[in-house]
Amino acid sequence: MMLSAMAAQKSTVDESQQAAAPMFLMENISKVYRTDLIETHALRSFNLRVNAGEFVSVTGPSGSGKTTFLNIAGLLEDYSAGRYFLDGVDTQGLGDRELSRLRNNKIGFVFQGFNLIPDLSVFDNIDVPLRYRGLPAAERKRLIGETLERVGLLSRAKHFPSQLSGGQQQRVAVARALAGSPAFLLADEPTGNLDSVMARQIMDLLENLNDQGTTIIMVTHDPDLAARAHRHIQIIDGEVAEVTRSSMRG
Ligand SMILES: Nc1ncnc2c1ncn2[C@@H]1O[C@H](COP(=O)(O)OP(=O)(O)OP(=O)(O)O)[C@@H](O)[C@H]1O
Ligand SMILES: [Mg+2]
Repeated sequence: MMLSAMAAQKSTVDESQQAAAPMFLMENISKVYRTDLIETHALRSFNLRVNAGEFVSVTGPSGSGKTTFLNIAGLLEDYSAGRYFLDGVDTQGLGDRELSRLRNNKIGFVFQGFNLIPDLSVFDNIDVPLRYRGLPAAERKRLIGETLERVGLLSRAKHFPSQLSGGQQQRVAVARALAGSPAFLLADEPTGNLDSVMARQIMDLLENLNDQGTTIIMVTHDPDLAARAHRHIQIIDGEVAEVTRSSMRG
């Protein structure tokens, strides 16, 4: 990863929070996209600490940096400056192999655009991250069956993404992220294409996973779903603008 000019900058995280183990810690993260003509500051001085077992929801206007933030959190994208610790590991000095190992072992990702592989069946799409983790075939098969049942798509295991509705594809994308019970789940609008009943069911699933110990960061535009998280943060113009602790949960 890029050497950071801001690495020496002092932590802005509240000292009183230091006791609990942070699953996730970003300090003064910035991300600049550069082309020949323009520079876009997608994130600027982004600070966030998420403790193990927390469920954090994220809202913000279109273009405010939510996906950029999740992609960096999920080690899918590099940052321009600042520090990012994942489960105690400073991600700055890591090479590609270490990054993918961390990602495969710890992180489940629900992409905003699903990112299903078109020429793989539903079953095989969910199998991809499980294979990367090196799980034996019989266990993968059991996990995939269980997860498909949880998202109500057991009967679609052999279908291809193009043979599914948008909502079904979204549920496959959620199933793929859940199947390995990752320690850390990042979800970008996981209910964006679902009706309100299905959205609540997916939210129930995520809460269930969170109750079992998975730390979750979820981007959503739905204020009702956002309010169900432990903590809700709002991103405006690449910065954390507001943090609200939920009255509904912990
Ligand atoms: N690859 C890229 N190259 C250049 N600029 C980019 C790139 N990706 C994102 N941006 C810019 O960074 C900013 C933040 O984008 P991002 O996708 O994080 O927004 P978002 O909050 O997820 O929006 P939405 O709610 O529409 O999904 C935008 O201004 C966008 O144009
Ligand atoms: Mg986005």
